[in-house]
Amino acid sequence: MTMDSPIDEIKKKLDLVEFISSYITLKKLGRNFKANCPFHNEKTPSFVVSPERQIWHCFGSCGEGGDIVKFLMKWENITFFEALKELAKKAGITLKNSNLEDSTWKKKERFFNMNRLAAEFFQYVLNKTKFGKKGEEYLKDRQIKPSIIEKFMLGYSPSSWDSLRLFLKKKNFSDQEMHENGLLVLTDSARYYDRFRGRLMFPLCDARDHILGFSGRSLEDNVKEAKYINTPETPIYHKRETLFGINLARESIKKEKNVFLVEGEFDMITPYQNGFSNFVAIKGSAVTSEQLMLLKRYTEKLTLALDADEAGNEAVKRGIDEAERLEFEINVIKFDFAKDPDEAVRKDLVAFKKAISKPIHIYDFLIDLALKKHPADDPFNKKKVGDEVLPYIAKINNSIVKSHYLKKISALLDVTEYSLETLIKKINRSKNIQSFYKPTANNKKNEKREDILEKYVLSSIFQSENAYKINEIIFSIIDPSDLSIPSHKKIVSIFIEKKELFKNGFNINLFVTFLSPELRAIFDEIYLFASSDLIVSNENLEKLAFELKRFSLKRQMNQILNEENDEKEKNKKLLLITEELKEVEKKLISL
Ligand code: CTP
Ligand code: MN
Repeated sequence: MTMDSPIDEIKKKLDLVEFISSYITLKKLGRNFKANCPFHNEKTPSFVVSPERQIWHCFGSCGEGGDIVKFLMKWENITFFEALKELAKKAGITLKNSNLEDSTWKKKERFFNMNRLAAEFFQYVLNKTKFGKKGEEYLKDRQIKPSIIEKFMLGYSPSSWDSLRLFLKKKNFSDQEMHENGLLVLTDSARYYDRFRGRLMFPLCDARDHILGFSGRSLEDNVKEAKYINTPETPIYHKRETLFGINLARESIKKEKNVFLVEGEFDMITPYQNGFSNFVAIKGSAVTSEQLMLLKRYTEKLTLALDADEAGNEAVKRGIDEAERLEFEINVIKFDFAKDPDEAVRKDLVAFKKAISKPIHIYDFLIDLALKKHPADDPFNKKKVGDEVLPYIAKINNSIVKSHYLKKISALLDVTEYSLETLIKKINRSKNIQSFYKPTANNKKNEKREDILEKYVLSSIFQSENAYKINEIIFSIIDPSDLSIPSHKKIVSIFIEKKELFKNGFNINLFVTFLSPELRAIFDEIYLFASSDLIVSNENLEKLAFELKRFSLKRQMNQILNEENDEKEKNKKLLLITEELKEVEKKLISL
């Protein structure tokens, strides 16, 4: 009897289609299921799930794929081991930890733990020692209540070079570990010292309450040192993926179906203290795609409440592309009476409430911004306004919304809508020009048509009820050697080799057992490929096979031309191929 691995056991208990359906809506399409990929934005579904193979693959720009464990890893942004634990729980399987130790996970857990101890240390210093007095006073000054200080686990790092280091040493952490986790700095003379000294400390958490790192605010008005210093990139802290306050705001974001994005720690904390609990903070002014993907799990609506300065405006513009790609509804709020949300709440709560209840659509915001910069009183300024805003308008999916803004701009600039539409067409044309096939598959833009054809043709073989029959048709036109990708050749040769085994019908799950793990991964992708939308229409397979033949012949011609060979010999070969090519072209026209 063979022992099932925990993964096999999980897969027996949990059906992938059912599992994924609990997250997104899948639609049956032939043998497979399709959906818009949850891991990137798209308008045409390129996410395919196979019930037979229990695998999924995205043929769109993210190109990801895998099994149930991989899906959960991606969905929750967690490690392999975490996903396994969660799935095992769901499937009612007990994992034997001993044979499943995952060293990266172990390390992460150790680092989370180290950070938690560090946070407790900073909290202790703030609340219980005289060294924390300054921090305490500062927080009082900024009107942060004790319950909030507690909730956010705010602390104070003493002005000492090694108090945290010595504390963690007692807890059995090495200098190297503390350094790798960003808590210590290493000098050129190979000495370690505490990174955070004399600062108000903010633990930075993920949505599951792990402490990933810290941000420390200086309490001096000293221009020499940075106002905030942060944990550098570590195995657990990635600035691009972190949103301050997400652990506390998550539920409220889901409930409100909206998230306010702000720039700084206090801009999240102060609103939270006043009952506005769906705020999260980015650090500084760059909204990243990682942060947006994270938020996309909770909401489709995003309200930017960035600082009312030039940097904030630029951030809005940079964020819009990503947010549009992810199909967020984006709004902007502005406070004309304060420089940031923290100040706005403390200065005038009523005005703050009013401002957040009147978000401006991002496009109105962009139009206002452009008009302020280039007052539309002469034709060249009008052009500048158009150049600035139309690229954004061109991307609006909904035609009613788009038309609304075109009308608005045309009125504001006093030009015809037709002139704006012409410009939009131009913008769209230059965007689409390079896409050979459907523009949805943007990372595959550079994938050659011949590779796509190859995958499609093979996919059609493996997905059909009668795989060997289709195979015969295809391979009466081409030869396995006409395939350009070595792994494809290999898969086909194994397929042909095993023909006898499948006399009573092709069994895909048996077939994959003959493939090496590397080939299997390639096979899975190929297998699902015909369910993707990469081929423009349901073209006839024979025709596609002839097209493949044509590619192969052209490749051969090129090869001959590059050969170091006698010219006569070359010409002879070329002539033969040219003849063959003519035949193929004829077929292609007739089909
Ligand atoms: N920031 C940073 N490093 C700096 C300066 C700023 O990481 N040297 C981040 C902090 O998260 C900060 C945010 O960028 O909260 C916005 O910076 P800024 O507008 O300068 O500060 P405020 O948020 O207004 O900070 P405070 O209210 O504490 O003065
Ligand atoms: Mn501020």
